[in-house]
Amino acid sequence: MSRPIHRREFLKQGAMGALGLSLLPSIGLKAAPSDRLRVAHIGLGGMGNQHMQWFAALPDVEIVALCDVDSDHLNGTLQSLKKLHPDTQAKTYADFRHILDRQDIDAITCATPDHWHAQIASLAFGAGKDVYGEKPLSYDVREGQMMLKHLNKHNRIFQLGTQIHATDNYHRVVEIIQSGAIGKVHTIRLWKTGFSPGLGFPEAQTPPPSLNWDMWLGPAPYADYFPERCHKSYRYFLDYSGGIFADFWCHIADVAWWAVHPSGLKSVVARGGKTDGVADAPKWLDADFEFENVKLFWTTEPPDVPGAADRGIGAYFEGDKGTLICDYRTRSITINGETMEDISAVGKTVPRSPGHQQNFVDAVKSRKQPESNLAYAREMTLPMHLALISWRLGGRKLEWSAGKEKFRGDKEANGFLSRERRKEWDLV
Ligand SMILES: NC(=O)c1ccc[n+]([C@@H]2O[C@H](COP(=O)([O-])OP(=O)(O)OC[C@H]3O[C@@H](n4cnc5c(N)ncnc54)[C@H](O)[C@@H]3O)[C@@H](O)[C@H]2O)c1
Repeated sequence: MSRPIHRREFLKQGAMGALGLSLLPSIGLKAAPSDRLRVAHIGLGGMGNQHMQWFAALPDVEIVALCDVDSDHLNGTLQSLKKLHPDTQAKTYADFRHILDRQDIDAITCATPDHWHAQIASLAFGAGKDVYGEKPLSYDVREGQMMLKHLNKHNRIFQLGTQIHATDNYHRVVEIIQSGAIGKVHTIRLWKTGFSPGLGFPEAQTPPPSLNWDMWLGPAPYADYFPERCHKSYRYFLDYSGGIFADFWCHIADVAWWAVHPSGLKSVVARGGKTDGVADAPKWLDADFEFENVKLFWTTEPPDVPGAADRGIGAYFEGDKGTLICDYRTRSITINGETMEDISAVGKTVPRSPGHQQNFVDAVKSRKQPESNLAYAREMTLPMHLALISWRLGGRKLEWSAGKEKFRGDKEANGFLSRERRKEWDLV
């Protein structure tokens, strides 16, 4: 393993000396090969292709490998990469473990479905790779704990793929709230409109020849294939994810965790609807969380307050001196019922990001954790898992011990903190 360590040392020195490779324009100019991070992309569906395009545009990155269990996705992404970089030497793989075996790869990105995130990241940490991994961080609570353990053990870098974290909008909201403009925040309301679809009642089929279905399932329980269970719509099955709630939680919870840092969770209770087809993730889910420092509510509808109605995914902060509403998609904020672009009186106190992917690349070089690092991402993701457990238990109110990371006096609920993985993919 001496070669990657030497490479990283070299990259680190290069990054410090070359005062911002990120100042180079993102298209065309590449850093010298020895200054480039060698990156592999694993999972090449919708988001994996986005990863490839983002990283292909960074001057100090070279994409050296691509991996997918569906050869159609693999070949399609290679063709797209060749359009961006006709001279690419990237190799293709059907099994990510061959990528982890390569000593010349510094970092991977992972955009597989959620049930693979923890296994791939943890094995990558053990193989000396840094990871840019998609949200949600993990499939369940124990997997998040295992990821953190492996990250620390192998001294690796991790960035959660919540790219909105890097935008000026979230930075501004954090600055305004932390300036005390609305006083001490005691209540946060997060919401995402829309429902998980039921997907009808499809018949089992033979998987297409391009797809290694067993490898797609990986740690998840065996299930017969039908297309709705696989690409994209897997997120509406509890074996792989948690529906629209789990899909969107991190995107907007991020600004709440960053601005207010809810901590010392005491209880959670969730209500929700079932879908009317084969999909079994909640059609909708609303949850109430009690933290030591704040009450937090997640709903499927915006709260009934001025400025919230037209925002599909938003956050409402209620402080003892005022209120603030922001959302995922726009720059507009509503303060005490008045919608505006900004409050100029509040200074820019939070350092701006060079871009979410560049922030990861810089972190790999400097060996300082990036903004959406694993410890932060895990804290922010954990309540989402607990709300799904409350829903699965019919809306039971669950008391939580934040210190022990266990439910108090509820063996059945604790059973949902982890699931059995198929043997080859257990995580220890
Ligand atoms: N950050 C964002 O804004 C954002 C947006 C969309 C999706 N995502 C996340 O990205 C992930 C992927 O979502 P998607 O919509 O692209 O799903 P998708 O179904 O389109 O793509 C997943 C890909 O992973 C491949 N795959 C499955 N198991 C694999 C394995 N073991 N090794 C290699 N490849 C494997 C699949 O064949 C497929 O090509 C999800 O976790 C999702 O939550 C994030």
